[in-house]
Amino acid sequence: MPSLVSIADCPVETIIERAEHWEKNLQNPDPALKDRTVCLLFYEPSTRTRVAFEHAAHKLKMRPIAIASDSSSIQKGESLKDTILTLCAEGMDLIVLRHYQAGAAAEAAGFSSVPLINAGDGGNEHPTQALLDLMTIRRHKGRIDGLKVAIVGDVRHSRVAKSNFLCLLPRGAHVMACAPESMLPDAVPEGLEITSSLAKALDGADVVMALRIQTERQDREAIDLAEYVQSYQISAQSLAWAKPDAILMHPGPMNRGVELTDEVADGPRSVIVEQVRNGLFIRIAATEYALGRY
Ligand code: NCD
Repeated sequence: MPSLVSIADCPVETIIERAEHWEKNLQNPDPALKDRTVCLLFYEPSTRTRVAFEHAAHKLKMRPIAIASDSSSIQKGESLKDTILTLCAEGMDLIVLRHYQAGAAAEAAGFSSVPLINAGDGGNEHPTQALLDLMTIRRHKGRIDGLKVAIVGDVRHSRVAKSNFLCLLPRGAHVMACAPESMLPDAVPEGLEITSSLAKALDGADVVMALRIQTERQDREAIDLAEYVQSYQISAQSLAWAKPDAILMHPGPMNRGVELTDEVADGPRSVIVEQVRNGLFIRIAATEYALGRY
């Protein structure tokens, strides 16, 4: 059965179709996975991703078992390998892993005898976030091909940005990553345009995606927040550079007043709450896919 480590492993359209099915049929659970176990192994804090996977498991009548790294043998120095081998021996059917190290998901999937879903590994990838983002964009724009998508903020450290590039670029979106020099990536995927000018990035954009500043992953001199706000904050004023029907996204958690203002976060163009809602349907669909249901 397949592990979902990278968005490149995902049958994107199939999973989104299944998620849309769940959106309409949330009250009609499919009992096929009843009593199967899913371990939520989180080495990093999370609200929406963890809750969505746990809620997804309940919707499928599965049994979720959540492990936080501060209350398990990880605290005693157990390696990722031994933790994964232990969980497999304990009879888990699926492991959902969030880890602070880039590459941890692929490494863990290599040790695991059961499928594994990457719920975010360091600055590497976050495939289910890219899936829910694509589902949300399609819902509003009806297409991906030819759309201008501006991704603004800490692109350098963002796994959300990376999975989105890998998902949006092959589908024909014109993706522009915008950040101050210190938050631009070293490696730029083919087709991605980068800029440090917010006006250039937002000009005529169909989709504006703000990213959180990943203070826990900074490897360069700390950014001056006031300077960042001045040049990169998404506000009513900067959002006016985008198309009048542009949507505003953010993977959360948001730092209101930094990456974006309250006014736009709660404004009519914001689809941030809808992203969270779609996250549940995507996690149900991804869980079923990893367990071979379709
Ligand atoms: C993101 C993450 O953890 O990668 N959040 C999420 O899963 N919705 C983004 C972030 O932490 O900034």
